[in-house]
Amino acid sequence: MTVLEDGDLKLRSLRPQDAPILVELANNEKISINLRDAFPHPYTFKDALNFIGMCMECKPVNVFAIEWDGKYVGNIGIYPEQDVYRRSGEIGYFLGEPYWNKGIMTRAVRLAVEYGFGELDLVRIHTGVFEYNVASQRVLEKCGFVKEGVSREAVFKQGNLVDEIRYALLRKDVR
Ligand SMILES: CC(C)(COP(=O)(O)OP(=O)(O)OC[C@H]1O[C@@H](n2cnc3c(N)ncnc32)[C@H](O)[C@@H]1OP(=O)(O)O)[C@@H](O)C(=O)NCCC(=O)NCCS
Repeated sequence: MTVLEDGDLKLRSLRPQDAPILVELANNEKISINLRDAFPHPYTFKDALNFIGMCMECKPVNVFAIEWDGKYVGNIGIYPEQDVYRRSGEIGYFLGEPYWNKGIMTRAVRLAVEYGFGELDLVRIHTGVFEYNVASQRVLEKCGFVKEGVSREAVFKQGNLVDEIRYALLRKDVR
């Protein structure tokens, strides 16, 4: 099992036993409002099992459970792109609400980025953040991501058009 560690923070592969806690963490509108509609709300036990099953089939591993202080608290993934974009990957993450604002995701992103530039041999990691998600923008900025632009009205979420802020980090800028 792939494990990345930084003190009391660990990224490890997901396993079927994580499903009940994944439901507890993910079944929260304050989380789903910041993510694509593919992240279901409400988030059911079946959704959790399907997601974990999919992640367990990926080789090399690209989605991790975040463990903090021995507890499973959220997920983080790096999704390699295809064709001419294959040296790029998209990063995505969420953390259960009880664990917000403790610096956990900033540390998890740093570990995942290191894995993406190392094991996955990516040279660029990028993502888009909905304009109202200031906490996630802050996480990326703390990790050295550069704001590359704004995709105006790119997102239609819960009946509203929302700008998406585009961020990226290059391997050559951190190594
Ligand atoms: C976004 C998210 C991952 C942040 O995780 P976290 O572990 O709480 O993040 P950190 O504690 O490492 O950093 C959060 C930063 O945002 C700041 N912040 C939080 N809420 C804020 C707000 N409403 N306005 C301004 N800054 C805010 C914190 O103060 C902190 O910055 P600081 O260290 O300079 O003080 C978490 O809130 C989450 O999972 N949200 C729902 C899902 C999501 O948004 N996923 C990302 C989609 S792009």
